[in-house]
Amino acid sequence: MSRRMLIAGNWKMHGLRSDLGFFDALAVHAGKGNAEVLVCPPSTLLSAAAERCAGTAIRLGGQDCHTGATGAHTGDVAAVMLHDAGARYVILGHSERRSDHAESSSLVCAKAGAALAAGLTPIVCVGETREQREAGEAFDIVAAQLGGSLPAATDSGIVIAYEPVWAIGTGLTASASDVARMHAFIRTRLPEPATTRVLYGGSVKPGNAAELMALDDVDGALVGGASLDIDAFASIIATAG
Ligand code: PGA
Repeated sequence: MSRRMLIAGNWKMHGLRSDLGFFDALAVHAGKGNAEVLVCPPSTLLSAAAERCAGTAIRLGGQDCHTGATGAHTGDVAAVMLHDAGARYVILGHSERRSDHAESSSLVCAKAGAALAAGLTPIVCVGETREQREAGEAFDIVAAQLGGSLPAATDSGIVIAYEPVWAIGTGLTASASDVARMHAFIRTRLPEPATTRVLYGGSVKPGNAAELMALDDVDGALVGGASLDIDAFASIIATAG
């Protein structure tokens, strides 16, 4: 199987210039194994992080982008601007965007198209809420989000992140068997199942990463809280080989 593992840190609304030393420490771990290592800091830090990471194996990404390339959109950031600042990936449709900003799958799809046009690899997030899982709707919800969020006919290296909403930032993780089932299901829904990387996210920690990363259809992790701690993030990276 030719899918390279991807360990991605999602810093969310954390990080100041005084935190840039993190990248010097991370560079050692990013160069060691076979996994690709990505950090998505707030967009205010992208340029400085890119300078700091020059010559290292660390990749950088944004956390969201607008659908347009330029225009009168106060407060928004275009995909091409993220690319210009040094990003090569962008997280899209994270559940916090879907809930805090009422982002629909069709908006996520338009953003993914803009990201691809700007030369960024979108990491499209999907995942059910606790109520949806308890109601037995998890697979239908994820199928609908995938169907609505992925641009047609992409063989572009788009990345999917399965993040059950109830596992994000809660310390709860889906069981390995639930993750295995959902990832296998997601793969059946992808236009390019053999090459598309499907990450797991939701309270990934050093203590659970090895079991999750060993699953056949898990091609890496999207890590929130633990990506802010260099020791925790480094040990998660190490589980990916
Ligand atoms: P968490 O966040 O690891 O803190 O649960 C994951 C995410 O939201 O991407």
